[in-house]
Amino acid sequence: MVKAVVAGASGGIGQPLSLLCKTCKNIDDLALYDVVNALGVAADLSHISSPATVTGYLPKDDGMKSAFTGADVVIIPAGIPRKPGMTRDDLFKINAGIVRDLIKGVAEFCPKAYLLIISNPVNSTVPIAAEVLKAAGVFDPKRLFGVTTLDVVRAETFVGALTGTNDPSTTYIPVIGGHSGETIVPLFSQAKPAVDIPEDKLDAITYRVQFGGDEVVKAKDGAGSATLSMAFAGFRFAEKLIRALKGESGIIEPTFVYLPGVEGGAEIAKATGCDFFSVPVELGEGGAKKAINVVADANEYEKKLLKACYEGLGGNISKGVEFVLNPP
Ligand code: NAD
Ligand code: LMR
Repeated sequence: MVKAVVAGASGGIGQPLSLLCKTCKNIDDLALYDVVNALGVAADLSHISSPATVTGYLPKDDGMKSAFTGADVVIIPAGIPRKPGMTRDDLFKINAGIVRDLIKGVAEFCPKAYLLIISNPVNSTVPIAAEVLKAAGVFDPKRLFGVTTLDVVRAETFVGALTGTNDPSTTYIPVIGGHSGETIVPLFSQAKPAVDIPEDKLDAITYRVQFGGDEVVKAKDGAGSATLSMAFAGFRFAEKLIRALKGESGIIEPTFVYLPGVEGGAEIAKATGCDFFSVPVELGEGGAKKAINVVADANEYEKKLLKACYEGLGGNISKGVEFVLNPP
């Protein structure tokens, strides 16, 4: 039996993500938590003729406790999205506290759950989650994931448009680092099968992966950021993780983890100077089984991108850690 929770279930990401979870054969019990409209979203989804039972919870009547108790996987897309002109870091002021409080609930009601953090800025909200879990004495780095799958999905899509493949998802492209602008580093040189990106197109496609989020924010013109593609990406990661937890082997997906706590991660942390970093991670029955050191094989072009990534990411991580250790 797998119980999954979506926290922030009534939002732009939360609703389609909950829909995908409801249709997932590997989820038996789906709990939807939000500060608004969670009961309505749950009632709506509960009429779908798939096996998962769906229940909705609001903060009143100990709703968080009821939603989180017994959870195996908690997916968190709670928090405000960007408007044009904003950076993801501009969301910190509001989303840092939202994530902190939800993770306090996780620590109290489902300390053994696997946590998938979608709320931005991911580069800071994941360190916040780690510090809250540490303070509660329940931090297991193999269970905490920042969801960076949308960057991978975008890389697959944009490369697919270039190569003309009829199924972009069949090209695997590691996208590593963090989840904002220059901290996002696509390693096209390590695509499988190999892709030949013409030199005069490399800057543009790299930029598009790094700043793909801005494209959507601009197009939505004040109505938010990526929601549908993010629901797809968040579900892709959640579903792969659940399959791995159930014993399927050989599942690898890039994700933002606390490197020193994952096998193979310490040497990547040393090479990058960042304790939190997205790399391809082999998923297993205990969560993050092994971090794969793709940094070592980056080419000269990618090494330059990585240098900028390390500079930006370090500050984002410290900001998250400080928020918990020395609250404002
Ligand atoms: P949204 O405003 O549509 O939805 C957010 C939901 O969170 C709302 O329903 C709101 O009521 C709920 N919420 C707020 N505070 C809460 C709390 N304390 N507990 C539970 N629920 C709470 O926003 P969205 O478009 O769904 O985006 C959500 C977040 O995901 C944003 O921070 C956005 O930047 C981020 N995001 C991340 C990625 C990624 O790749 N990791 C991609 C897209 C968006
Ligand atoms: C994205 O990459 O689309 C998300 O992080 C949302 C955003 O603010 O761009």
